[in-house]
Amino acid sequence: MTWLKKPQLGPTMTTKLPTNRPLLTLRSPVFRSLILAFSTLLLFATLAHHGKVSVPHQFRKSSAFRPPTATVHQQRPLQEHHQTSLIPDPDSNETLHFSMNCGASADHLSEIKSRYNLDDRFQYMKRYVRFTRTKGLERKSMTKLDQNLLPHEFQFKAVDVRHNKAMEDECMAPLEVPVPKSGLPRTVNASDFIFGVSTTYNRFMSTETSPINEWTFWLTDGNGQSNGGKLVLMLLDATDEQLQEVANILGDVNIDADIYHSDSRLEMAVRYLTLVPTLYTHPEARHKKWLVTCDDDTFFPSMHGLINKMSSMNHRREMYVGTLSEDVGAIERHGSQAFGGGGVFLSLPLAKRITELYSSCTSNQKIKESDSGWA
Ligand SMILES: *[C@@H]1O[C@H](CO)[C@@H](O)[C@H](O)[C@H]1NC(C)=O
Ligand SMILES: *[C@@H]1O[C@H](CO)[C@@H](O)[C@H](O)[C@H]1NC(C)=O
Repeated sequence: MTWLKKPQLGPTMTTKLPTNRPLLTLRSPVFRSLILAFSTLLLFATLAHHGKVSVPHQFRKSSAFRPPTATVHQQRPLQEHHQTSLIPDPDSNETLHFSMNCGASADHLSEIKSRYNLDDRFQYMKRYVRFTRTKGLERKSMTKLDQNLLPHEFQFKAVDVRHNKAMEDECMAPLEVPVPKSGLPRTVNASDFIFGVSTTYNRFMSTETSPINEWTFWLTDGNGQSNGGKLVLMLLDATDEQLQEVANILGDVNIDADIYHSDSRLEMAVRYLTLVPTLYTHPEARHKKWLVTCDDDTFFPSMHGLINKMSSMNHRREMYVGTLSEDVGAIERHGSQAFGGGGVFLSLPLAKRITELYSSCTSNQKIKESDSGWA
């Protein structure tokens, strides 16, 4: 799979709400740690409108990273007279030299034009954001900076893609953003968890919907090794070859996964509930504390945070842990229940009870009773 083996340079990071969806889509494993630890880059493209610069009310965020060695143009930041930024390596006292590049190739500019449906002429700017991991800083829901994103000396560059020319520009000094010094993926130990997920072969294989990069983020150490978390994947209506193909892809990135056939003829509610006995009877389950059912697009942004939170709960009791949907309508319809998007965490004693009662819970009568009009 070319999209898997050769991740695009210039990956795109999109932030999207609502909150029970994955927050970040990190396309390139190569730069994932850079994205989280060092800096990100904001890119603005605005339509040229009557020769005036209009600052877009809606802007796109992109992490068009170059590896630290890929210096493309000589340039200087406007406010500082050196072009490389010193980036502290999060785990050592070394600093890395990172060359900023605020130009854009003709190809990149045409790509922006078609992606955002712009005119041939538009205004372009790029600015880096540098994160600094700072001890003792608490995580806030919103960080306010007293720096201007677009200082008054700054000018947008007019671009006309019909000229098919690369654009050169100097970089401004990056925006400086202190961030908490949270744990790194390589120190995560998720071996207390099995995650059960159900998806289709097509969703898994499609570049649009494939969760492989997100799973690599929260199920590996970011360095090609499993973080101990186990994935039990139920693949709907897949052939044996397709199952094997998916297994190979997951194996390539060292996600510790077992893959099972799943039958689409079962009612969705039953299919979902089947995950519980499947997880509970898994040979590794007795060494685990938490069995988790989640959606194929569930994203855990901080495994350290998750593990900390779960360690405050008694896994020896019958526990059902999760979070409410952010959709008030859904809570009205279904009541106070954990939603798949955020993951449903069951302790072993509770999973045992559900497994024992499984057949009586999946009778036609029970399914009818629990049907709130949404399967
Ligand atoms: C970094 O420097 C500090 C203070 O000099 C020292 O205590 C720490 O062990 C160093 N860390 C590494 C990874 O070398
Ligand atoms: C991870 O956690 C498990 C169980 O809590 C423990 O047995 C194991 O030794 C840990 N692994 C590492 C590498 O620390």
